[in-house]
Amino acid sequence: MLNIALFGPPGVGKGTQSKKLLEKYNLTYISTGDMLRSEIAEGSDLGMKAKSIIEQGGLVNDELIIQLIEKKINTNPGSKGILFDGFPRTTVQAYVLEGLMLKLNTSLNCMISLDVPEKELINRLLLRAKVSGRADDNLEVIKNRLKEYENKTKPVADFYAKKHKYYPLNGVGEIDEIFENIVKIVEQTKSVPQTNIVLLGKPGAGKGTQGNLLAHEFGLVYISTGKMMRQEIKDGTEIGRLAKPYMDKGEIVPDEIPIQLIERKINENPDANGFTFKGFPRTLIQAYILDGLLQRVNMSVSAMIDMKIPTLEAIKRLSARGRTEKARPYDGSAELIVNRLEQYKEKTNPVIDYYKNQGKYFSIRAEGNEKEVFESLEKKVEDILHNSY
Ligand code: AP5
Ligand code: MG
Repeated sequence: MLNIALFGPPGVGKGTQSKKLLEKYNLTYISTGDMLRSEIAEGSDLGMKAKSIIEQGGLVNDELIIQLIEKKINTNPGSKGILFDGFPRTTVQAYVLEGLMLKLNTSLNCMISLDVPEKELINRLLLRAKVSGRADDNLEVIKNRLKEYENKTKPVADFYAKKHKYYPLNGVGEIDEIFENIVKIVEQTKSVPQTNIVLLGKPGAGKGTQGNLLAHEFGLVYISTGKMMRQEIKDGTEIGRLAKPYMDKGEIVPDEIPIQLIERKINENPDANGFTFKGFPRTLIQAYILDGLLQRVNMSVSAMIDMKIPTLEAIKRLSARGRTEKARPYDGSAELIVNRLEQYKEKTNPVIDYYKNQGKYFSIRAEGNEKEVFESLEKKVEDILHNSY
């Protein structure tokens, strides 16, 4: 979704620029001022409660505003995004907006704030008064509205500045020129749709081989927690030292270690089209952790693909690898192989259920040569991306 908030004092041009933004982007428009005015025109309960406050230039109470917004959002499911005009206007409303975005599994892309000197604001509104028919467009009320803005609304700017989502812009000048500057910001903060694929499968299923190919083919960043941990061990880092005893036994390492490594990798690739995860999540807890890690950067798991091979095939492949130079310390003995397969089954089944419940579970047959398996994997990912599974 693309979610934009236009911010600034009365008369700054929020409504004017909103019209242009709505022409350009297919968004749901939420103008609390317009909504209140139509409630008043309809003579609804809510409208009656708001009327005198608006006529005096005060702010309508947060409860009423929240009711209005909920109503609007519920009647626009599947929206491509929302343009907020005149909301949030208090810090309480900013928190409400955050909750709302979270509920829709999205977040605000930017708050664009227009700046115009007070004298010009008053001139504009007095000029508009001649045609607007708005009860609050007269000098006395305008002054009150500006005061309310200074006292209650301005602090909202800080809230978004701290989140690095606040973009101040000059609001004096040609309307089209200001619009161009707004669009620049919108484009800059528009997030590209990201694809995050989790590859799961028994040890020996070929996740590493196929994960690398997949990442390369779709321009994704490959994240293998196992590979990263082996590198840390090789480099003799603190993380490596902590991970080594578990890795040597073929056991799952404590969650703090892969979390740090994944977080680092995600942060190193802020412009990635997405990620391919191999070897993570291995447990239900890690599935929750991955969701949390991705949510922090406004992403989510797109799909989990289970690479299916029979147990005997897994044993054959691992013991064959044990005889090559790619051998892992735990490939050597039948006992360790069986131990890993058992752990896999026990720990990973809940992970599979987790994704099944979200409709994100997919599987492919991972038998055959590398090329054959990759063809099925590639086809599966294409189907997922085009929603044609
Ligand atoms: P609301 O309707 O939101 O009014 P406002 O914030 O006071 O803003 P305006 O609509 O007056 O100005 P605007 O920035 O949209 O400017 P416009 O594009 O029209 O709210 C009204 C009341 O409802 C509030 O006071 C409050 O009581 C209540 N309310 C609403 N939301 C609330 C909330 N969330 N919580 C609590 N209470 C809430 O432009 C103004 C004029 O300037 C126009 O004539 C335009 O043509 C002209 N103009 C625009 N751009 C330019 C330019 N670049 N150069 C020259 N002229 C320009
Ligand atoms: Mg307006």
